[in-house]
Amino acid sequence: MLFPSLLFFILLSQLAYAATPHRHGKRSPGTLDLVNSHNVQYSTNITVAGQSFQVAIDTKSSDLWVVSDSLQATTLSNDTIVLLSLPSNASGTAMAAPVEFGGGSTANQAFLLVSPDGIDVPVGHGVLGVGPSNSSGIFVLFDSAGNTVMDNLFIANTLADPFITIFLGRFDDPLALDFDGELTIAQTIPGWEAITNEPKLPVTTSAAVTILGQKFQVLLDDNGFLGPDGKPIAVPFNSSVTNSPRPTVGFDSSSPFSQVPTSVAAAIYSPYGADAQLTDVSEVDGAIWVVACDVEVNVTLLFGGEAYPVHPLDATLDPVVLGFAPLALASGKQGCIGSFQPADLSTELPIFDMVLAQPFLRSAYTLLYYGNLIQGFTNKSDPYVQLMSTVNATQAHQDFITQRLNGTDTTSTSTYNYSKVSSQLDVADDSSSGSDSGGLPWKTAKIVIIALGAACGLLLIAIIAAVVAWRRAKERGEARGSYQPVHLPGLDKAY
Ligand SMILES: *[C@@H]1O[C@H](CO)[C@@H](O)[C@H](O)[C@H]1NC(C)=O
Ligand SMILES: *[C@@H]1O[C@H](CO)[C@@H](O)[C@H](O)[C@H]1NC(C)=O
Ligand SMILES: *[C@@H]1O[C@H](CO)[C@@H](O)[C@H](O)[C@H]1NC(C)=O
Ligand SMILES: *[C@@H]1O[C@H](CO)[C@@H](O)[C@H](O)[C@H]1NC(C)=O
Ligand SMILES: *[C@@H]1O[C@H](CO)[C@@H](O)[C@H](O)[C@H]1NC(C)=O
Ligand SMILES: *[C@@H]1O[C@H](CO)[C@@H](O)[C@H](O)[C@H]1NC(C)=O
Ligand SMILES: *[C@@H]1O[C@H](CO)[C@@H](O)[C@H](O)[C@H]1NC(C)=O
Ligand SMILES: *[C@@H]1O[C@H](CO)[C@@H](O)[C@H](O)[C@H]1NC(C)=O
Ligand SMILES: *[C@@H]1O[C@H](CO)[C@@H](O)[C@H](O)[C@H]1NC(C)=O
Ligand SMILES: *[C@@H]1O[C@H](CO)[C@@H](O)[C@H](O)[C@H]1NC(C)=O
Repeated sequence: MLFPSLLFFILLSQLAYAATPHRHGKRSPGTLDLVNSHNVQYSTNITVAGQSFQVAIDTKSSDLWVVSDSLQATTLSNDTIVLLSLPSNASGTAMAAPVEFGGGSTANQAFLLVSPDGIDVPVGHGVLGVGPSNSSGIFVLFDSAGNTVMDNLFIANTLADPFITIFLGRFDDPLALDFDGELTIAQTIPGWEAITNEPKLPVTTSAAVTILGQKFQVLLDDNGFLGPDGKPIAVPFNSSVTNSPRPTVGFDSSSPFSQVPTSVAAAIYSPYGADAQLTDVSEVDGAIWVVACDVEVNVTLLFGGEAYPVHPLDATLDPVVLGFAPLALASGKQGCIGSFQPADLSTELPIFDMVLAQPFLRSAYTLLYYGNLIQGFTNKSDPYVQLMSTVNATQAHQDFITQRLNGTDTTSTSTYNYSKVSSQLDVADDSSSGSDSGGLPWKTAKIVIIALGAACGLLLIAIIAAVVAWRRAKERGEARGSYQPVHLPGLDKAY
């Protein structure tokens, strides 16, 4: 079975980047224009050792890696790092070289050079992980010689405020076609400065961080997930994982689907009865809800007491916009993909209770403040996340009517039975076992999770496993050993 992220890359190479980048105004230093490919991947151009690469921006991993068959760079280690991939394992080498990109450069940047053999990512592509160095596999291996791109930038510019912001564009937004997305370093996007007045959501930590590394993760408010009826959905959480009495939320700029507990996804989509079904979609790993495209789903998340409505065009995704095959429900209605995919993450990957991906990040401009997460940095302030809603609910409703309803508002005539679900929820509440009605087979669920972890920076685990293997092999006087999984990603903007 293909990992979702690999599929995206296959898809992207087939699409030949049909998405045209548009810019609103002149870009300033420290700004990276993003290319939004079908609301599935948000990438930018960087130069590594003089070669140009198109890299997906990934908030949940921390390493830079690129696919090339030849690159002049300094080898950091002759050990081969194997990346679990399909159909065969790919291998990589840790290297260092000058890296340049919009408004920045680092002279001796560590990265992973991945061989094109056995990986479905084309030469000239890769991933720029912008997560904390604590979860960088290369940093774990090479210490300061393996600093992440962002750490190197901020260490070299001690006067800069250590933060980035990410604004993801919406490919199918009638109002935002001229904006693909932007990543800014140590500055905000003009017109959106007020993000710095939003609540500072502290980056949380837990025992899992010791093993899996620190990510940008925050806590959802109590009763902070409002379903389509405006009432809170019970969000199961694993307190041993989050070390707190509220669900822990991660952010993923490289995946087109958010992942939420099975019961939460059911609470969002199952009330639509025959207009929604949990099913397999060939381009997606694991079961996902398919909902009639003419159903407007309003979901809102609460952080720091602020409401972040999800744009209805982000709550269900038109498969054709994503470059997938069209879908139909049993009723014959056109099907759209519910962007909140069921996945009981914390049982398998004990970091997050849910991960909010591109569909949420299109609806909320995001600021990631590194502070003391930067290794050896002089600024010891605590890390945090700030979110600023990009959704005008009135306008979003109009957008939905334009895009999905051919201009005629039929939403008010639709009736769905939410009370039915609320009672289901009470039952599903404690079980969090993943065996929901509609059925997410256990094996499939596992694959979903592994894929997420991989896309999420299991590179870290991969490399840690490699290190452990090497050390053991050395102790035993054997040749070097094995490793682990890694996968690939994608990125996006909002309006
Ligand atoms: C990146 O490079 C490709 C190929 O040269 C180009 O088509 C694309 O517009 C560039 N993207 C950005 C954001 O500059
Ligand atoms: C890698 O191997 C080459 C050739 O044996 C050697 O010259 C070089 O020092 C090695 N590099 C590292 C980082 O071990
Ligand atoms: C890839 O590597 C993993 C971990 O070493 C191993 O279990 C798996 O069999 C390998 N896959 C292939 C196709 O070689
Ligand atoms: C990441 O943070 C954890 C918890 O503080 C710590 O145990 C671990 O050593 C750190 N890892 C790195 C690579 O700094
Ligand atoms: C909570 O996390 C722990 C540690 O990963 C795991 O063993 C346990 O199964 C999880 N419990 C639930 C209900 O997900
Ligand atoms: C860290 O940066 C913040 C934001 O610029 C600033 O307010 C704070 O004073 C700095 N702290 C230190 C210790 O430099
Ligand atoms: C969704 O929210 C918008 C804005 O508040 C509202 O106009 C619309 O009626 C809502 N749609 C549904 C189906 O509840
Ligand atoms: C939201 O959009 C509507 C319709 O375009 C507009 O009239 C209204 O002023 C906007 N509200 C805000 C707060 O921008
Ligand atoms: C909108 O128009 C298209 C093309 O005529 C049609 O395929 C689609 O079913 C219509 N959608 C709705 C909700 O009426
Ligand atoms: C909605 O579902 C509840 C619980 O199953 C049921 O009692 C109620 O009659 C239903 N309402 C409608 C309008 O179907």
